[in-house]
Amino acid sequence: MSFQANKDRAVYRWFKYKEAFSAGLVEYLLRRYRITKGSLLDPFAGSGTALFAGGAFGMRPEGIELLPIGQTVIATKQLIDWEIQPQDVERLAFWLQAQPWKKHAVVKPINELRIARGAYPQETVHDDSQINTLSEKFYVQ
Ligand SMILES: C[S@@+](CC[C@H](N)C(=O)[O-])C[C@H]1O[C@@H](n2cnc3c(N)ncnc32)[C@H](O)[C@@H]1O
Repeated sequence: MSFQANKDRAVYRWFKYKEAFSAGLVEYLLRRYRITKGSLLDPFAGSGTALFAGGAFGMRPEGIELLPIGQTVIATKQLIDWEIQPQDVERLAFWLQAQPWKKHAVVKPINELRIARGAYPQETVHDDSQINTLSEKFYVQ
C-alpha cells in the first residue's frame, strides 16, 4: 500500500512522497478488475503514482493535486517518463564521460549565495563555474 514498495521502481522511486500509494497495488487492482482502458481520475493525485500506473496500462490519466510539490513531482516524472528519448540518454552519457567543461578556464564564476558559501567542496564549486563558463559560451554567441 505505501511508498516503500516503490523503492525498486524506476521513476516512481525518484521522489520520496510519503503519502504515495505503491505502484504495485494500483497495478494489482487494475489487473484484478480487468481495467485496461478509459479514463483514470485521481482527485488526490499526490506524486502521481496511480496516474502513471494507469497510464502505463493504456488508460488516460487525469489528476488533481493541491500541493505544489506534488504537482511539480508529477510534471517532472512526465518529463522523465515520456519526453526523454534514447538519444538524450546517449548525449548525457557523452557529457558524463567527456566532461568538456574541464577543458575551459573559468571566466564566469557561479554566483554563490552568502548562505551557501563553504557548503560545497572547492572542486564542486570549480566544476560548476566551468560549466557556467561553457554554457555562457554556447548560449551567448
Ligand atoms: C494519499 S495521497 C495520494 C496518493 C496518490 N493517489 C497516489 O497515487 O500515490 C493524498 C493527496 O491528496 C492531496 N489532497 C488533499 N486534499 C486535497 C484537495 N482538496 N484537493 C486536491 N488534493 C488534495 C494531498 O496533498 C496528498 O498529496
